[in-house]
Amino acid sequence: MPTVEIDGRKLQVEDGVTVIRAAERLGVEIPHYCWHPGLSIAGNCRMCLVEIEKSPKLQIACNTRVTDGMVVHTTSEKTRAAQKSVLEFLLINHPIDCPVCDQAGECKLQEYYMDYDRQRSRVPLPAKVHKRKAKPIGPLVILDQERCVMCSRCVRFLDEVTHTSELAFYERGDHVDLDLAPGGTLDNPYSGNVVDICPVGALTNRDFRFRARVWYLERTESVCGACATGCNIEIYHREGTLFRFQPRENDAVNQYWMCDAGRMSYRDLQGEGRLTQPLVRGAEQFAPATWESALAAVAARLREGGVGIVVSARASNEEVYLLRRIGAAVSARVAGVSWSPPGAFHDDFLVKADKNPNTRGLRLQGLSPDGAADELLAAADLRTLILHRADLVAWRGAGSALERVPYLVVLDTDLCETAQYANVVLPVGTYAESDGTFTNHAGRVQRFHQAVPPPGEARAGWEALGALLAAVDGGIRFDDAEAVFTELAAECRPMNGMSYASLGTLGQPTA
Ligand code: SF4
Ligand code: SF4
Ligand code: FES
Repeated sequence: MPTVEIDGRKLQVEDGVTVIRAAERLGVEIPHYCWHPGLSIAGNCRMCLVEIEKSPKLQIACNTRVTDGMVVHTTSEKTRAAQKSVLEFLLINHPIDCPVCDQAGECKLQEYYMDYDRQRSRVPLPAKVHKRKAKPIGPLVILDQERCVMCSRCVRFLDEVTHTSELAFYERGDHVDLDLAPGGTLDNPYSGNVVDICPVGALTNRDFRFRARVWYLERTESVCGACATGCNIEIYHREGTLFRFQPRENDAVNQYWMCDAGRMSYRDLQGEGRLTQPLVRGAEQFAPATWESALAAVAARLREGGVGIVVSARASNEEVYLLRRIGAAVSARVAGVSWSPPGAFHDDFLVKADKNPNTRGLRLQGLSPDGAADELLAAADLRTLILHRADLVAWRGAGSALERVPYLVVLDTDLCETAQYANVVLPVGTYAESDGTFTNHAGRVQRFHQAVPPPGEARAGWEALGALLAAVDGGIRFDDAEAVFTELAAECRPMNGMSYASLGTLGQPTA
């Protein structure tokens, strides 16, 4: 294993490791534009030039492999001069757009200028070459050709990851243009990723641009709930509103990417039909109720027996566990259910046809989503039915079956079609409004964290169900989702030994 010295600190690395990667391990950031860990090495921006002893000239850190005894300087005079020169070169024709550019706050040209350059331009403003601005190139992406630094990240992503090759460089020299192939459009199912990897404001997201400055937004680690893959994401939010999803690196799941449908699914989590308080049916209509009175009414009913519980694969592992506990306390039958739109898009990369985030988690707790709910609904002795995140009317046209159920309790985020048949409706939060875990299609248990509070009086699912369990069996309420998971992990064999701490930020495979 070669040993390398970077800025006076020694490190042993495996054969073949590049200087930029070795520096990363030491916490040394080498500025770069074209290099991206998920793409091939282009080596064209020269921003990563470093001084290497015994080498006659500066070398690019992204494409230079460490050799034994190599000594690298990332902050020497020569390196600094090169960084300044590269930035000056990139800025010759760059427009003075920063105050009106939506990339401000996450632009590598702005940041590196402040960190490594800070010199006045020697090129008069009128001499700049102008190119096309704000050109929509697909449903999600808009292109500003003047701002492009020709790093080719987007081109390589479309060549190497989606294999769709919509973008390329045309012309040469200072007239070079990043553009669509003639007659083309950027509308593949992963198009939004080019915005994430563009280091400058050349590619921006049509949905997000100009809605918020990124420095005002908070970030929360989560997983996408729009299909069974469970891509790792960051939720950007502010004052209770979600603004965007972006992928978070996890080599075992989604590498650096996510699909466009998942990216845009943040909007489904804050629709207009959100429930904000418990509802109890009076003679004709629903009337608002307190949680205490609604839970007391439901608990009294459950104790009378004849109970069925249907939990969907949109529920978290913690919610499934609590519903099973409630079921055990009142000798109820418990069934799983899952639903995806017929013919739902899927591919052999990330997107699954199963649009439920936790079908595998349901199965691991012994609940089959294949038809058990229909049997339960048909049972003659069914007196009370709980439906948890299961819109059986929209999914299965179960309206007439539900009309026959004497007492229906619906827990959901929205006033869905099924809720119209309910005696009691309990409002619960989305996965962006709660802590918990999903188990993805491959059996990986992954955490999501509460980003924003549930609206109005709605409660996180684990909290609502924990309170219902306490009302039914007189036990103590769980303090948090973690306490529920601790019990679940002790009880469910494939999750034995797991904890929120052991799941960490990247999750863990089940046994
Ligand atoms: S548009 Fe962005 S990602 Fe694509 S080449 Fe230009 S700077 Fe790089
Ligand atoms: S592939 Fe699935 S989990 Fe990943 S972003 Fe798309 S919908 Fe979400
Ligand atoms: S990052 Fe090394 S040449 Fe661009």
